[in-house]
Formats: sequence, C-alpha cells, structure tokens
Amino acid sequence: MKTDIQSSGPDSVDAPLALASGKKLFVKSYGCQMNAYDAARMADVLAPEGYAETLVIEDADLIVLNTCHIRERATDKVFSELGKIRLLKEARGAVGLQTRIAVAGCVAQAEGAEILRKQRAVDLVVGPQSYHRLPELLRQSAAGPVVDTDFPVEDKFDHLDQPSNDKVRQRGLSSFLTVQEGCDKFCAFCVVPYTRGAESSRPAEKIIAEAEHLVQAGVREITLLGQNVNAYHGEGVDGSDWSLADLIRRLAKIEGLARLRYMTSHPNDMREDLIRAHVDLPALMPFLHLPVQSGSDRILEAMNRRHNAADYMRLVERIRRARPDIALSSDFIVGFPGESEADFAATLELAEEVRFASTFFFKYSPRPGTPGADLADQVREEVKIERLSRLQDVVEAQRRAFNASLVGQTVDVLFEKPGRHPGQIAGKSPYLQPVQVEGPARLIGRVAPVEIVACSSNSLFGRLENSLLEAAWAQEAF
Ligand code: SAH
Ligand code: SF4
Ligand code: F3S
Repeated sequence: MKTDIQSSGPDSVDAPLALASGKKLFVKSYGCQMNAYDAARMADVLAPEGYAETLVIEDADLIVLNTCHIRERATDKVFSELGKIRLLKEARGAVGLQTRIAVAGCVAQAEGAEILRKQRAVDLVVGPQSYHRLPELLRQSAAGPVVDTDFPVEDKFDHLDQPSNDKVRQRGLSSFLTVQEGCDKFCAFCVVPYTRGAESSRPAEKIIAEAEHLVQAGVREITLLGQNVNAYHGEGVDGSDWSLADLIRRLAKIEGLARLRYMTSHPNDMREDLIRAHVDLPALMPFLHLPVQSGSDRILEAMNRRHNAADYMRLVERIRRARPDIALSSDFIVGFPGESEADFAATLELAEEVRFASTFFFKYSPRPGTPGADLADQVREEVKIERLSRLQDVVEAQRRAFNASLVGQTVDVLFEKPGRHPGQIAGKSPYLQPVQVEGPARLIGRVAPVEIVACSSNSLFGRLENSLLEAAWAQEAF
C-alpha cells in the first residue's frame, strides 16, 4: 500500500506538474462518521495530484461537498450551500481564478445527473463507491460536467493512497476506519441501502495494515465504522471468515493502540463473541451505540427492523450482565407513519427502562424511494415536533444523570489536546464525554486515570492523581 505523496506511483504521472502549481482543496462533509472518513480519504487521493487542503473556502481551486441524504433537511442544505458556492465561483472567475465544484457522497449517489440540472455550477458528481477515481474524473471534467455513480467491481480501498504521517497527526489522536460498508437490511425509512449499496466487508489484512499505519503515525484511538458494523464478516488473515469480534481481538494487539470502538451496530447482529470481547479486551471501550428507533412492536415491524422491544430489552440485559459498566446510546425516530400516541408512549417507556447515556433523536423524514414514504397515515408535523420534545426531555435527563453519576468516580481519560485555559488539558472519557483537567501538555496522547469532581451538561471536570501530576510536571518519563 502507498505510504506518502512521493511514492504515489505511475498512475498519477502528472503529479509533479500539479504539485508545482500548488492547488488548494476545500472539503466539507455532512452526515455520518463514514462520510467524515471518506472526506479524509478524498483528500488523500487528491494529495498526489498536488491538492493541499485549506480551511478557507474562498482560496479553494477545488471544492468538494461530501453530502448526506438521510433526511430531507440534510439534502436541502446541500443545494443552499451550492447556491453560495456558485457565487464564489463567479467571483473567483471574475479575477481569473478557476474553481472546480464536486458533489460527492449520498446525495450524489441518490440524485446523480439531477444535481447538474439543479445547479449548473457543479462540475463533477461522484458517488461514495467511486471517489477513488476523483483524479481521473477531475481531468475528464475539464471538458464538461461528469457524473460517476457506479458501484464499481473494483474495491475503492485498493486505490486510495495512505495519508502521510504528518497528515495523520494533523487529524488528531482519534481516527475512523471503515471496515464494513453498505446495508442489506432495508429499514422502511432509510436511504442508506440505496446510497451505499450492498453490505460488504473489507479483508482483515487490509484493515490491520491501515490501523498499523495510523498507530505508527501517532493515532491512539480507532473507531471501526460500518453502516452495520457488527455484521462484519470479512476474510481473516488465515483465509477463514472473521467476525467483528475476531477483527477487534487482532487489532487490540497493535502496540500503542489504546482504545477501540465500533459503530453503528444493529441489535440483530449483536453476537455473543462480540459481547465477550467487551469482557476480555481492556482496549475495547465500554460504550455501545445500539439504535432501537422505537419502543413499539407495531412500529418496529412497520419499520422492518426485524426485532421487537422485548428482544431489545433482553439483549441489553445480556450485554449488561456481561459488562455491568457498559453505557448505551441509541437513535430514535418519532412520527414514523402510523405512530399513535400509544406507540409513542411505548418508545418513552423503553427509553425510561434502558436509561441511555446519550441519544440521538429525529423526526421521521419521508425519503423518496423508501417504502415508508409511500405509507398512508403520515404523522402531522406538529405531532412530530411535540413528541420529539417529550422524548428529548426524557433522554436529556438521562444524559445529565449519567454525567452526574460519574462525579466521585475515577475514569480513564485519553488526553487529546490543550484545554480551554492555560495549564489545562482536554481528553475523552471511555463514554466519549469531554474531560478537562489541570495538567501538562506532555500528557497529550496518554491515557491516565482521572477523578471526576464536577460536571456540566456536556463536560466533565477532573483531577489527576498527585503522584502522576508531579511526575508529569517534573518531565519524568512514565
Ligand atoms: N446504520 C445505522 C444508522 C443509519 S442512519 C443503523 O442501523 O442504525 C442514522 C440514523 O438516522 C438512524 O439510526 C435513524 O435513527 C435516522 N434516520 C434514518 N433515516 C431517517 C429518516 N428517513 N427520517 C428520520 N431519521 C432517519
Ligand atoms: Fe439504514 Fe436500517 Fe441499514 Fe441502518 S440497518 S443503515 S437504519 S437500512
Ligand atoms: Fe448520510 Fe449517507 Fe451517512 S445518507 S448518514 S452520509 S451513509
């Protein structure tokens, strides 16, 4: 696998020319973590073409919007952003600067050439499975707009350059790594099976190589990504089929990798070996995102989730029995077609019963092409708003209670960056809460036990053990 810009290989023959021209790339990503991962990989594939990333959109010769189609608002946002970018392109054009605009991600996949009709300033539309072709597509787009929304037979991951060590470090101590992509579950509300395609798992060997590269560059925490990550079944290093648990067991052996996480899991794919991995592997964080969507059996069935509320509760119980300190989070949708007050009450009841550490909640948004959009009995907007606010009250209280329950406890914190004030450093708890402590910057990149002394609605505040603190200030190695 390629390791840096210099070794970009014969497939990018005009790279030196482009490098000399010093082109700038601005990438904006919407939606889920996988999109954030893809956006970084797009920058990696464009680096050998001479594109350096900028955070200033006005300076960019190439603007990539990596879009999300999950809810109507997400899609609308893309087109309003494109309207602004068209003005920017015109302003730059007036002073002789060329600007290329690419739309990538799930809206690109769902709408394809329609995007060019809606916004003529767009030069290139590229789907989530073909962005490794960006350099070639950009060259083609010099002659006119290009659309590539194929699900190609070749694996994009085999064609992506690894980021340089400097680039990895710039992106921080915590990194995403896609291990599984696509979905065969077809929940009635969801566009993902259409935008990301069929479920497929990367071979373990490739994932291990990518993880090792990240860790040797300084990454300390990796979150394995997949639309159905716990359905992972890839080719193992021994040629056998590996489960996610097998993969995690192997990755946990990488020296220097302090923390592993994975998301998003489907309740039906939560196998015993994965629960065991939470018991056996200290690197695997005791925090699990396990969306349930609704607490009503009737709605779960209409959503095609293929489990009922009692199945979910039993699963939660099994997980908690194995690992009592595990914290759970979920996604909920309110106002799915046909949701009655009684159905919604069942959702509130389930939430009350589980006690989630954190929760994402959404109003149902009918998506073109999904079965849910065609159902009669769509719930009125005012009802959705009212239910969302009631659910929010319950789950927000749970989140605050969870934060408060950590006060007085000692938790391991991975320090990631300087804190808000001089002399402070900031990190994350095992449950992804931001934690602030007084401490020296040399602790950044380390995991250390922190006694939590206070919490606000979003952050925890803690104290390092005196001996550790003294040693760190005294610049001792430990
Ligand atoms: N693969 C994941 C999540 C996919 S999308 C899973 O299986 O859970 C992330 C979340 O967006 C979903 O969990 C769901 O709660 C929400 N979502 C998806 N489609 C939606 C829609 N049409 N309207 C509202 N929320 C939606
Ligand atoms: Fe969407 Fe359901 Fe697949 Fe998750 S499992 S990506 S919600 S279809
Ligand atoms: Fe959005 Fe696509 Fe992710 S629709 S949530 S960017 S998989």
